[in-house]
Amino acid sequence: MGYFITFEGIEGCGKTTQIRLLAERLKADGRRVTLTREPGGCAIADKIRGILLDADNRAMLPHTELLLYAAARAQHVGEVVKPAMEEGGVVLCDRFTDATIAYQSSGRGIDRDTVDTLNSLACGGVRPDLTVLIDCDPVLGLERARRRIDASSGPREERFELEALAFHQRVREGYLALAAGEPHRFLTVNGSGPVEQIAAGIIRQVASRLEEQRHAVR
Ligand code: TMP
Repeated sequence: MGYFITFEGIEGCGKTTQIRLLAERLKADGRRVTLTREPGGCAIADKIRGILLDADNRAMLPHTELLLYAAARAQHVGEVVKPAMEEGGVVLCDRFTDATIAYQSSGRGIDRDTVDTLNSLACGGVRPDLTVLIDCDPVLGLERARRRIDASSGPREERFELEALAFHQRVREGYLALAAGEPHRFLTVNGSGPVEQIAAGIIRQVASRLEEQRHAVR
């Protein structure tokens, strides 16, 4: 069985840069790595991503949003994550079930039981072994995220970036509460330091977890 690592954090926290650096390092060490993301990660889920992040879809209701994230996840887990885990190797996913708890429950206010039910339906038993939470002040994160969107020539995937600061503060608090409740699964890092320093800390921790797993299966 493989090892499943997810990366989480608010907009602009730097997780996409960090997940790429970790993937490069693990590949250089000779490991088989699958790098994927949510929402998306396969053709059908990428189409759902387009609907979810389109800033023109301001009228989307919270339950519609939740169901679309669950639909995208069910396809992505079945088509990408599960097969990659079965082949062994390390699966790295940019956002996963914790994002649904932080955004749709803490952020939008949907009750936690409903979110948990849909997460477990979509995952079919797949759970992250390790979750790297990159914690960041929403003022800093949103500024970075907006700069990135302005510089990009692709579609403006900014439905969430347009949310009020208070929404992003609730999301951040939701993530921190999840991390406090599961300290072994979560590695929380401060996203305001230099990129290389953050990457070195993550790489060190991941190496030690992979070593732990190797001893556990012996
Ligand atoms: P990204 O900017 O990291 O690609 O993520 C896309 C957006 O989707 C981001 O604003 C967070 C949001 N999101 C949720 O609200 N719920 C979820 O379950 C996931 C996976 C993402």
